[in-house]
Amino acid sequence: MVKESLTRGSDFQKENRQRLIKMYENSPLSTEEKLINFGLYMRSSYLASVLFLDEMYQKILPVPGVIMEFGVWWGANLALLQSLRGVYEPYNYTRKVIGFDTFEGYPDLMQQEDKDSKYLFKGNYSVSENYIDYLNEMMDYHEAENVMPNKKKFELVKGDVTHTLPKYLEDNPQTIISMVYFDMGLYAPTKAALQAIQPYLVKGSILIMDELNFPDMPGETVAVREVFGLTKYRIERSKYTPDRCYIVIE
Ligand SMILES: C[S@@+](CC[C@H](N)C(=O)[O-])C[C@H]1O[C@@H](n2cnc3c(N)ncnc32)[C@H](O)[C@@H]1O
Repeated sequence: MVKESLTRGSDFQKENRQRLIKMYENSPLSTEEKLINFGLYMRSSYLASVLFLDEMYQKILPVPGVIMEFGVWWGANLALLQSLRGVYEPYNYTRKVIGFDTFEGYPDLMQQEDKDSKYLFKGNYSVSENYIDYLNEMMDYHEAENVMPNKKKFELVKGDVTHTLPKYLEDNPQTIISMVYFDMGLYAPTKAALQAIQPYLVKGSILIMDELNFPDMPGETVAVREVFGLTKYRIERSKYTPDRCYIVIE
């Protein structure tokens, strides 16, 4: 079934996606064939997300620093970012990809700023038990596909980012951040993370905001407005998706 809380399409699109799910389940391709013919199943909206990540990655090529994602879910963005590093800068072992998530979905506490949202409720975007182990192995697999597999270039950090990020930054004082993907959608952790990363940004760093100007999840926009204001830095939208925006630190 297409999950109501996970899809943002019209009724027609949801029905059509049900067809895709059925065709995927009843596919005449073997698993191996499916993996090398993935374009057969990839929706244009997902392709746009991949192109968007590519657009962002190309912007940070001259910028030093790690990539962080706040709100990992199953980790597709992290794996794609790791593959983009393999494509564009396979020898840049300093470009670590670091994912932060509770790996238990949304926590209970919703602030006033998050309003009533059909997407924001306790446990939404939760993953299976011990999923972090599976994702670690998947990231390890992708690392092994590319050069320098002996150098670990990814990290997964479990817990509420409000607590785990300050500790990570304290434990890693060498940190410079070239790109952050904000995708928690909530006011409080987004604000806390925006504040925590500020001393670690450089000119050219990119902050990707997944839910900016999104009426169903106003908390992210409120957090950006309170921490940076809306005019201090250039905020641009991607040419590939109607909703994704990024802030360029200048
Ligand atoms: C929309 S999902 C992320 C989707 C993912 N970026 C993707 O594109 O596939 C939001 C994620 O934020 C995580 N999250 C929410 N509040 C959090 C917090 N305080 N600390 C860490 N992760 C949090 C949830 O567990 C969930 O996995």
